[in-house]
Formats: sequence, structure tokens, C-alpha cells
Amino acid sequence: MHIALISASVRQGRKSHNVALYLEKALKGTDNTVDLIDLKVCDFPIFDERLKFMKEPAANVVAFAERIRKADGVIIVTPEYNGSFPTSLKNVIDLLTEDWKGKPISFCTASGGAFAGSQVMQELLFPLWKIKAWVVPSSMQVPKVQEQFGDDGSVLMDAEGWERRTKVFLNDLGWAMEARRRMEA
Ligand SMILES: Cc1cc2nc3c(=O)[nH]c(=O)nc-3n(C[C@H](O)[C@H](O)[C@H](O)COP(=O)(O)O)c2cc1C
Repeated sequence: MHIALISASVRQGRKSHNVALYLEKALKGTDNTVDLIDLKVCDFPIFDERLKFMKEPAANVVAFAERIRKADGVIIVTPEYNGSFPTSLKNVIDLLTEDWKGKPISFCTASGGAFAGSQVMQELLFPLWKIKAWVVPSSMQVPKVQEQFGDDGSVLMDAEGWERRTKVFLNDLGWAMEARRRMEA
């Protein structure tokens, strides 16, 4: 299967991107292929219309849609800001419409404190439900993200625990992607 891995943080000195790098490495060790979509690199302008209504969409916006379209499933790595998700993420959710429909999407949340982004988890559910994405009911939650993963995606503590949690997380996404593929066959 092919997985788009969205790294949502564009913040200077961001730490949740380290989790995305970790997941990219983990996925490379499976049968899946992975496409890391770093929203900091994408550097999209602030949303002003959905892609399908744009008269002359920018090439990077068209490319983003194509990357999502091609993916059997999506993992969103998002930090928690003020109990919610960063603007950069909403900016791309609103951009697409049909491409999100029925798409299996797993959440990986991260925060600097002990609660691991439990509030952004709830906040993100609603817009994705509204847009008819298929949110996988299995998540990866990273507390104290700055202590857990290094800048190269290495695990700084509890390597065994992260391996175990990642396996379950990816297996559950795998189940949803397989189910969707069978429905579309
Ligand atoms: C604007 C802002 C708001 C934040 N709000 C929360 C919050 O509501 N809950 C929380 O646990 N951490 C909060 N934090 C801490 C972040 O979760 C922490 O800085 C984390 O590293 C953010 O991910 P990032 O480094 O990829 O940007 C906030 C950080 C910022 C910059």
C-alpha cells in the first residue's frame, strides 16, 4: 500500500516533525511505500478557494492533490496548539473535497506536555468527519515530544514501547486500507 505521511507543523524549531521522520523510517521497514508531505516545505499560501474551483491553481497545490489521490491511506502528524490543530493543516484540509472521501486517515498527535495532544485529536475528528474521510480509530499519541524523538527521527527513550505502539498503529491503518481496496475492487 502507498501511504501519504503529512507533517503538519511549520513552526520554527518544530518537534513533531521528528515523529514524522520516525514514522517515515518505520514505514520504510514495511511492505508499504511512503510519501512524506512536509507542509513546511510545501509552503502553501493561505487558503482562498478549493482546488476544484481554482481557475489557475499553483503547480504545488495540484501536486499535493495528486499525492493525496494516489495514497491508499494518510497519516497526519499534528502538534496541539491551544487545544487544536495548526492553521497549516486546516489550510490543506479545506483545499480538497472528493479526494478525502472514504480515505483512511490515521492521526498521530504530539504535544510538549503530558497529555500528548488529546485535545487536538478531538478537534481534528470533526472536520475530517464532515469532509467524509474515514478516520481510523487507532491513534499514536506522543507526550513530551521534545524528549521522545531526535531531529533525525531517532527514538530517544522507550524504543521498545514505541516499536510496539507503532506496529499496532500501522496495522490498524493497514486493515482500513485493505478494506477500502476490497470495496473498490
Ligand atoms: C501556539 C502554541 C500553542 C500550544 N498549545 C498547546 C496546548 O494547547 N496543549 C499542549 O499540550 N501543548 C501546547 N503547546 C505546546 C506544543 O504542543 C509543543 O510546543 C509541541 O512541540 C508542538 O509541536 P511542534 O514543535 O511540532 O510545533 C503549544 C505550543 C504552541 C506553539
